[in-house]
Amino acid sequence: MKSKIQENIYQKIYQKELNYIERRLKKLLSKRNPRSLYEPCEYSITGGGKRIRPFLVLISAKAVGGKFNQVYNAAIAVELVHNFTLVHDDIMDNSDLRRGRPTVHKKFDISTAILTGDNLIALAYDNLLKDCKGNTGEIVSAFTKGIIEVCEGQSLDKEFELRGDVTIDEYKIMIYKKTAALIQMSCSIGARICNADKNFINIVENYGKNLGMAFQIQDDLLDITGDEKKFGKKIGSDLIEGKKTYLFLKALEKSDGIDKKKLLKVIKNKGISPEEVDLYKTIYDKYNILEDAKNEIIYYTNLALKNLSKLPDQEGSQLMNWIANLLIGRMK
Ligand code: IPE
Ligand code: IPE
Ligand code: MG
Ligand code: MG
Ligand code: MG
Repeated sequence: MKSKIQENIYQKIYQKELNYIERRLKKLLSKRNPRSLYEPCEYSITGGGKRIRPFLVLISAKAVGGKFNQVYNAAIAVELVHNFTLVHDDIMDNSDLRRGRPTVHKKFDISTAILTGDNLIALAYDNLLKDCKGNTGEIVSAFTKGIIEVCEGQSLDKEFELRGDVTIDEYKIMIYKKTAALIQMSCSIGARICNADKNFINIVENYGKNLGMAFQIQDDLLDITGDEKKFGKKIGSDLIEGKKTYLFLKALEKSDGIDKKKLLKVIKNKGISPEEVDLYKTIYDKYNILEDAKNEIIYYTNLALKNLSKLPDQEGSQLMNWIANLLIGRMK
């Protein structure tokens, strides 16, 4: 358990690094031409992202004994990749709102959004390479693997919209790929750039993987319980789109009678109308699904926190512990 003073120190470090990342991202895109490409790139990347992934690159580097300034370009690179996934994800999910603003394809158009995503990946590699000194092949390979996993996960996510027999185990593979793999990769490259021992790389990768699982289940939960202003995305959109979320699959497993029929209707109709969201919230409440999701988030967060104290830099590993608790909103 950490003291309030210690938590304030971590919060200050996060804020300071966040501001720096913000400035770097702005500088990277604001002077480039053509504006028809860089304006939507800039738009996509600004607007209040939490910058969790770049921060994880930094603190993973520190936790294995490295320094923040060895990995700033890599941190920028993962944020660029993350924003590529968001821009394309919003097209795939028919989402109109992101970070409280119109999504890139709504503000501009679909062609622009596709190209914005493409360019963000290319810029990401360009930045990553600046931090690769000795073991470039290994770092680029870990980075690329993360991106491939996201694409595979996104494909499963879309495939599952059309399937009625998705299991929770299959769901977990899907969220590992679409979300956890990128968070794992962020930790991995932070450690690899600092030439960490294999053991230490494994510990930070395990942290990233499990934190990523918790993060996506929490995202599924917030899609129902979140405050639209804070969440920045439309509440209920997973049900509207017929997504196989943790909540939906768990409700399907636990329900019976008329409730189960209503859930099966979501599958049959490949989603619901916005007016029906409240009805499904009631079903989730009735079967205690929100509690199940919270327990699952805690389960994965605890797995993430395992072995962190074995890392060589204690402040680094404590920052990893702190941000995990902050993310799942249960600061002790
Ligand atoms: C949203 O990620 C996409 C998911 C993997 C759930 P974030 O919640 O990290 O989005 P921003 O960058 O803070 O907006
Ligand atoms: C997150 O999936 C994974 C990626 C963005 C790659 P979601 O579709 O749940 O993310 P949000 O909720 O739109 O941010
Ligand atoms: Mg999606
Ligand atoms: Mg989405
Ligand atoms: Mg979501």
